[in-house]
Parts: sequence; C-alpha cells; structure tokens
Amino acid sequence: MTDKFVAAIDQGTTSSRCIVFDQHGAIVAVDQREHRQIFPKPGWVEHDATEIWSKVQAVVAGALAKAGLRAGQLSALGITNQRETTVLWDRSTGKPVHNAIVWQDTRTAGLCAQLGGSDGQDRFRDRTGLPLASYFSGPKVAWLLDNVPGLRARAENGEIAFGTIDSWLIWNLTGGTDGGRHVTDVTNAGRTMLMNLETLQWDPAVLDAMNVPEAVLPGIRSSAEVYGTAVGQLSGVPVASALGDQQAAVFGQACYDVGSAKNTYGTGSFLLLNTGDRPVPSKHGLLTTMGYKIGDEAPVYCLEGSIAITGALVQWFRDQLGIIRTADEIEPLAASVEDNGGAYIVPAFSGLFAPYWRSDARGVVTGLTRYVTAGHLARAVLEATSWQTREVVDAMYQDSGVRITTLKVDGGMTKNGLLMQHQADVLDVPVIRPRVSETTCLGAAYAAGLATGVWNGLDELKSHWRKDAEWTPAMSSSVRDREYRNWRKAVEKSLGWAEE
Ligand code: G3P
Repeated sequence: MTDKFVAAIDQGTTSSRCIVFDQHGAIVAVDQREHRQIFPKPGWVEHDATEIWSKVQAVVAGALAKAGLRAGQLSALGITNQRETTVLWDRSTGKPVHNAIVWQDTRTAGLCAQLGGSDGQDRFRDRTGLPLASYFSGPKVAWLLDNVPGLRARAENGEIAFGTIDSWLIWNLTGGTDGGRHVTDVTNAGRTMLMNLETLQWDPAVLDAMNVPEAVLPGIRSSAEVYGTAVGQLSGVPVASALGDQQAAVFGQACYDVGSAKNTYGTGSFLLLNTGDRPVPSKHGLLTTMGYKIGDEAPVYCLEGSIAITGALVQWFRDQLGIIRTADEIEPLAASVEDNGGAYIVPAFSGLFAPYWRSDARGVVTGLTRYVTAGHLARAVLEATSWQTREVVDAMYQDSGVRITTLKVDGGMTKNGLLMQHQADVLDVPVIRPRVSETTCLGAAYAAGLATGVWNGLDELKSHWRKDAEWTPAMSSSVRDREYRNWRKAVEKSLGWAEE
C-alpha cells in the first residue's frame, strides 16, 4: 500500500501552522509562523487578514519542504482556525476592507448591551446557544458595516463577503477572485451568533435584529466534505474539512462519546464536553455549541467553557513586562519558589468569559507585598490558567450533571509540567496528555481524511489515540479550598472595573 498523507492548516490567534500527517495520524512535518497583533486602543485587537494569508502560504510551503513531499502527494487538506475573528472583503478585488476584528476585541460590548435591551444578555440564547457578548462575530460584522464609510450599501449590493478565518482561507485556497468558494462549516458558523442551532442555517430573526444583510454570508456546510479543489501551490488538492480550532481538538482527541471532554491550552483555554446529537442549554454560563458534523451524518453538540486569556497571559508577561525572554522560561522561574507568595493574577484583559460573561471586568493583580518576587508572579500567571479551568469544570457539572473523572488536555501549555500538576491538583482529577498534542491540526486532518476515504470511520481514528503523560492530584483539600477562595476573591475585584 502506498503511503497516504493529509495536511492541515491551523490558523490560530498568534500563529499559523501547517502539519503533514501520515495515514497512522503521526506527524511527518510541521511549519509555523507568528503574525502581528494589532492593538489600536485598549480592548481592541486586530489582525491583518492579508498577512495571515501570506503566512499560511509560507507554512504550507515550509511543511511540504520539510516533509519532502509535493502537493500532488497529499490526499486532502483540512482547515482549522481561531474562531469568531471577523473578516470582510471585497469580492472583486479580494482585498479585506478593514483589519480583521479578533475574537478578543471588546469594541462591541456597548452594541451587545443595546441588542440585549430589556431581554438582556440571553436574548438569542435559545436560537444560537450563546449569550450576547463582544466575543462573537455577528456584532463585529454590524460594527464594521456601520463604521467603514460606505460599506453597508456595498454589502447590501452583494459586493462584500464576510467570513470567519476558515471562509477567508477556503476562498483564497480555491481561487479567490477567480471562482473561490465562499463557504463555512457549522462549527464556525455557530460562533457568529447568526446561526440557528436547530436548523443549522442563518437565523433570519437574528440577522434582522443585528442588521446583517444575507448577501454577505457564506454558505453553511458540514465540517467534513470536499468544498472545492485548491489552486496555486496546492493545486489539485481537495479542501475537505473546516472546524473551529476547539472543535477540531475535540475531534483530534477522539472525544466521540457522549460525556467525553478535552481542554485545549492556547491563547485562551477551551473546555468542551460532547453532549451528543441534541443541544444542551446552559444555565451556568457555558456555551451550547456545535461539536462537529461529518458529511450527511447527524450533528454532534458540545457544552463549552471558554476562557479568553491563559497562554496569552504568559505572552504578556514576556512581551509587555519583559520578565522572561521566552515562554518556556516561565516554568523554571515558577519552580524557583514554593508557592505564589500570596499573589493572584486575574487576566480579564478582554473582560471575563465563562462562566461570568462580564465585559466590564479588567485584569487585576492582588495580594502584593514586598515579599513577592518574579518567581511568585510567574506562579500566579500559571495558576490563573488552572483556576479559570476549575471554574468552568464546576459549571459543566452544574449544567450537565456529568462529573469529569479525568481531563484530556492538549495545546502548547501542556508541555509545562508544573502547570499540568497544578491543574490536576485544583481539579482533583488526573490530567492526561496524548502522544500527539497537536490535536487541533490532527482533528482537521482526520475530518479531511474521512471526507476523502483516507480513513474509514471514527473507530479507526479512536484506535490512533495514545497516552503520553499523566499527572495525578497531590494537593490536600484544605490547601485547595483555601486557594480557591482566594482566587474567587481576586475575581470579585476584577468585576465592574471598566466603565462601559
Ligand atoms: O474562540 C477563540 C479560539 O478559537 C482561539 O483559539 O488557540 O487561537 O487561542 P486559539
């Protein structure tokens, strides 16, 4: 049998990556590049979508070169991406009309409050599964249409296309102005706050309320099917999957059974629990979201606990404070002290997401004394990730009645053993990392490979999963309870800080 290869592009918040996998789901080659983070005002975060597209082309070339493969040897290409980030572009020139507004951007907080009106934050929850928050794309589209001069009229005329990053990449990969496909998948469409979770179509009532014209919207497709054939450097390769990065990680972690869960530690952290073929409403600050949909099969839904800032706090500690030179330096610095020295950092840089959904929260550092050193702060940075995860795990239990017994983890921060041990300690359950921790790309590759016959079904994919490392809880319950109380006190201080 000749070897088969599937490539996946992961277009993330801080970088783009391309990974080539073999037919056993093992990594053959990886290439990665960062792109600029643009902060025009406090709380605003933008990306240059043109820069993202060129970085994506560069990492595809890089991964193929490292793998020693030609495009023609790829069976399929899968896409996974930072979700919610919003691009509007001119259909005839292919140029974005404005920088992309990133999911972390809070400029639409006021608009969201206005949209909620007397119904409040949950006005569209039963249709979309989401609370009104600046996180989601719909209000970002409305903001652009109202703030870029002349854009609304051009959009209503059909001259403008909207896409989350998956759509932007698929359109460019399949020809751009020369016949590019304008589509998205259910997992990405579900994060716009414009898709109805039951019909899996754009919801006319929500479009109307947000004043978003249908003419800008992509077609909604499943997560695993051939959307089109690539042109250019990947000429002839079927573009065969798209999943938001967190849903791709669910797929790559083989969370195919109801009750299975994973947590991915990237810029933010996102814990998703598979709830099967029905959406489960949340009453405790979680999101009801799509898990995946394979071709014509029934969709799978999840409950999600979204945490905006985890890895990005380490990045801030490195880039804005300059306390460490590389992200990896945080672990030895944190390990140089016994504990956090009484310091807690609540990284509410984009407000607080789950389970609070408070756009008026801002970051705080509490408990400072002259005793506190850079080492204690490094610990507080890492501990902020595990405590935020603890809060969404508690909400997951309250919503679903499912008590997780182990947590499957993945993403860049899982190589930090000190953090993973603290995570196991504060959840009081074992934390397990798979051998392929690049589960986001793996999930996109799996879905693309299913759509093109590289793999036969979920059982085959499940058989690829292997454990790499496990951390077991070692913290006494009295310490855990005291630290959790302190964390909650620090969170209280962050709420209501920003005046809206
Ligand atoms: O919802 C935002 C999420 O998709 C971003 O993921 O990995 O780029 O932080 P990441």
